[in-house]
Amino acid sequence: MVRPPPSIRSYLSAALVPSSLPHVTLSEFLAAVDQVAADAPAQIAAAATLDEWTAVRTALVGRQAGRLTDLMTGLAALPKEAKREAGQRVNTVKAAIESALEARHAELASATPTAAPLDRSMPARARWRGAVHPVSQVIDEVVEIFRELGFTIALGPEAESAWYNFAALNFPADHPAMDMHDTLYLGTDQVLRTHTSPVQVRTLQQYPPPVRILAPGNVYRRDFFDPSHAPMFAQIEGLVVDEGVTFADLKATLSHFARRFFGPETTTRFRPSFFPFTEPSAEMDVRCGVCRGAGCGVCKQSGWIEILGAGMVHPAVLEAAGLDSERYTGWAFGMGPARTALSRHGIPDIRILYDSDVRVLDQFVS
Ligand code: PHE
Repeated sequence: MVRPPPSIRSYLSAALVPSSLPHVTLSEFLAAVDQVAADAPAQIAAAATLDEWTAVRTALVGRQAGRLTDLMTGLAALPKEAKREAGQRVNTVKAAIESALEARHAELASATPTAAPLDRSMPARARWRGAVHPVSQVIDEVVEIFRELGFTIALGPEAESAWYNFAALNFPADHPAMDMHDTLYLGTDQVLRTHTSPVQVRTLQQYPPPVRILAPGNVYRRDFFDPSHAPMFAQIEGLVVDEGVTFADLKATLSHFARRFFGPETTTRFRPSFFPFTEPSAEMDVRCGVCRGAGCGVCKQSGWIEILGAGMVHPAVLEAAGLDSERYTGWAFGMGPARTALSRHGIPDIRILYDSDVRVLDQFVS
């Protein structure tokens, strides 16, 4: 006697056969198969997702516990003569169920997934609008302040001749800045300009005084990236040349600039310095706006922040540009807007300004 697995026995017994399986007749068996066939369409139609479809398929024709599979196992309990007809009926029903399953699967697979209900009250995602880079912000503000004083913009090439970059600016032939260690040479006579000062000479060659220009632009030096150095950085050059221009004009103009840029309370100090192309030369510091001179991290405890180098244009520079140095005088300055941006925002590492990391730049959206 073949003992069918408990599942078929419970199914058959619940539905049809109160007693034991050996007594299943052909008609009872066929009735059980037909019942499966009758239930199947509604079950298949009820599968609303591919996962549900898989569960329905398993319940109907699954190899382990499908209703039809169970019945097939039950075939053995039928009298020999009945097996053929019963087997055929099972196969017909199975084929019908499988094609119905297939059709439903195709429907579910092609249906667009039903999205979660649309929430129209949800706030829109903010659009990234970009921001002006902190160094460009400084440049823009400096340019604006000097524009009010009648300065115009002058630009020069970043690939510059050694003559404009050095010789015309009164660098002696053996000046250490001309060493390969500081300058990126593009050939024997071409360099990546190490400062914006060559624009002074180019401008004076092109325009007769009075000249009042500002020359922002990138400059290059043979430095490694470290927290306070970069091999490429921005400078802003300023130049005034006219008859009767004095050091008092330099001090007044640059102090005015410092007050406009850093605030009306700002004090400045001028320290003697040296540049080959200015005489006398000076560095201008401003009182640290963070500690007001008491000393803090931003001013490295000195109370002062170095802002720019400046000086009276050296007569040799005026002569190199073809001007009469007895008739004309002038002053010039050069500042690094990156340094200003760093101290303004308390940024500890200059490299951050070069990363274009939106998590940083995002903070400067004004
Ligand atoms: N060119 C100088 C530098 O790069 C700055 C400077 C410009 C100084 C103009 C004086 C006058 O350091």
